[in-house]
Amino acid sequence: MTIKQQASIKRDCFDKVMLPVYAPAQFIPVKGLGSRVWDQNGEEYIDFAGGIAVNALGHCHPKLVKALQEQSEKLWHVSNVFTNEPALQLAQRLVDHTFADRIFFANSGAEANEAALKLARHYAIKKFNPYKTKIISFTHSFHGRTLFTVSVGGQAKYSDGFGPKPADIVHVPFNNLDAVKAVIDDHTCAVILEPVQGEGGLTCATPEFLAGVRQLCDEFNALLIFDEVQCGMGRTGTLFTYQQYGIIPDILTSAKALGGGFPISAMLTTDTIASVMYPGVHGTTYGGNPLACAVGCAAFDVINSDAVLSAITAKRKLFIEQLEKINQQFSVFSQYRGKGLLLGAQLSEPYHDRARDFLNTATEFKVMILNAGTSVLRFTPSLVISDEEIIQGMARFAKAVEKLVNSK
Ligand SMILES: Cc1ncc(COP(=O)(O)O)c(C=O)c1O
Repeated sequence: MTIKQQASIKRDCFDKVMLPVYAPAQFIPVKGLGSRVWDQNGEEYIDFAGGIAVNALGHCHPKLVKALQEQSEKLWHVSNVFTNEPALQLAQRLVDHTFADRIFFANSGAEANEAALKLARHYAIKKFNPYKTKIISFTHSFHGRTLFTVSVGGQAKYSDGFGPKPADIVHVPFNNLDAVKAVIDDHTCAVILEPVQGEGGLTCATPEFLAGVRQLCDEFNALLIFDEVQCGMGRTGTLFTYQQYGIIPDILTSAKALGGGFPISAMLTTDTIASVMYPGVHGTTYGGNPLACAVGCAAFDVINSDAVLSAITAKRKLFIEQLEKINQQFSVFSQYRGKGLLLGAQLSEPYHDRARDFLNTATEFKVMILNAGTSVLRFTPSLVISDEEIIQGMARFAKAVEKLVNSK
């Protein structure tokens, strides 16, 4: 496919008119189809980034396009003064296929987590006492950028510099049960964690750790919140990652792949916990928007199928085989991390802190990848990427690695 378009707007416009909180690549993508993207000059890229685990079905998946087109001719928005069919249909799907009885829709991962944290505090205050407010979180975790979620996240580089933070949040090392035991008490309202830490470097929770945290939460009447914004919706090979561990949270958050590229997020919980909420106590204008939920239903039905979920292990294996081929030649990776198609390649010592260089060089060779921290490369492609695209993209990436290694 060739795309040549008169580019009236150029990349340097970004540096003039946008708030400088991002440093985007030098090209501007203008079209995507499946796992391929084209820029303003018609150059084609293979997409291993998947919009940071959002485009779980690639770009412009026909079923998602159809759902959006059909809904766009019916009803765009009614607010939460009214409900709507797509919202109820998506909520019903989430209830039918998870531990949850109740769903709250929002627009981003941060908002779903904000709702989860507020719910946990409210539940503890209503059911126990006003001093049960402590939230336990983990170093290297990431939960979003609102002041509450960024303060709960375990990375000071994101949360410092914005004035007083919400109080009563403690951070302990991930996968360290003793550390949780040392801080959990009757004043704890919640423990929040990502079963696979995404931004923090693709560290998987150990089964013993999750089981131990679940037990401690039960002992101290604290709610267990799983943030599956990045690792959920099929990314690791099951609809949600908790289903592989067999450890059931009290609250779960989902976003990113939930809308396959259309902004939507959800907070899932049980009837008992939801019982403390009532009209007016929390909300958002766009939560449960019909367009978002119609696309969400279409994405859910494709992702939650044996055809998609059962292929993820083999695709991960193929990715790792290809990475290992590159590694045998250039010795750039020391470890593969993550689960399913939330895949990390830890850079070996000489390349520590150079993840960004790998990303930039990869785009020169027309393949889009991500980093997770400064020393881990992250691959979050479409869950339905073809084997040919994996092999072709990795051949391009191999050339990028060769250039980078030789220009040391
Ligand atoms: C685990 C996790 N939680 C929350 C968020 C925040 O989501 P959003 O950027 O949609 O607010 C992210 C985003 O990367 C994430 O990876």
